[in-house]
Amino acid sequence: MLFFADTVIKPYITASRYRRVCEIGASFGLTTDKLLELDSVSIDIIDPCLDADLRMKYRDDERVRVHQGVSLEVLQRIVGTFDCILIDGDHNWYTVYNELSTIEERGLLKRGGTIFFHDVCWPYGRRDMYYQPELIPEEFIQPFKREGIVRGQSELSDASPFNSDLCNAAHEGGPRNGVLTAVEDFYKEHRGKYKFFHFEEEHGLGVLLKTDGTVGGITYRKYHLMAKYSRLLRRLKRVKGYYASLKSSPRKGVK
Ligand SMILES: C[S@@+](CC[C@H](N)C(=O)[O-])C[C@H]1O[C@@H](n2cnc3c(N)ncnc32)[C@H](O)[C@@H]1O
Repeated sequence: MLFFADTVIKPYITASRYRRVCEIGASFGLTTDKLLELDSVSIDIIDPCLDADLRMKYRDDERVRVHQGVSLEVLQRIVGTFDCILIDGDHNWYTVYNELSTIEERGLLKRGGTIFFHDVCWPYGRRDMYYQPELIPEEFIQPFKREGIVRGQSELSDASPFNSDLCNAAHEGGPRNGVLTAVEDFYKEHRGKYKFFHFEEEHGLGVLLKTDGTVGGITYRKYHLMAKYSRLLRRLKRVKGYYASLKSSPRKGVK
């Protein structure tokens, strides 16, 4: 999330005149600190505080409320409505799908409000990861192992160090697996009410707008165009790289 704080999230919040933010999964509070640079913003953090004691960190900041606990419990009792919600907590289908369903059922996001999601691309777009697997009902948990992830390979590998300390789903893809799958499943059920796009950089940033029934969404449209443009640039770069590699590799039969 931090990667996008200055480039997308802060300017988007400013342009949309958002004030009340909820951050699910704050870790050490690095993205929180960035958002607090905006004077008009107040933040409710939801996190079991597995990485840091966020209550202690923000004890003197009256713009921050820390709700220590897991999202699916706290979202049931949190009071108020938010302009913007950042979702970067437990990276699995069950949690993200139910976070969205609870936000929708309880009306926690204002119309015209936006939800940002980190990790909608590789490695967790199509693969679950569990911080606390014991909290996920058996029928929704994928078989998982503490083994590393390899790009382009569904199976985990004990030779890969990539996130090998985390509980990663043993296979990539398929139903009810991964953060992007969760967002898409929710979106399909609420198509007329929301709009969605994502940036591909830095493991992906999803942007879900709750449309307000009027024109609205000017900021959303601007950033949607930015994402399309950066995707196009990435594709051009890949094509350029491909042709450069063809040029530099010796052709068969030519000495
Ligand atoms: C990837 S880190 C968040 C990074 C943070 N957004 C940033 O930009 O620096 C994930 C965080 O989610 C928290 N977490 C894990 N399970 C959670 C859950 N069920 N509800 C809320 N937060 C959770 C962890 O404690 C951890 O702090």
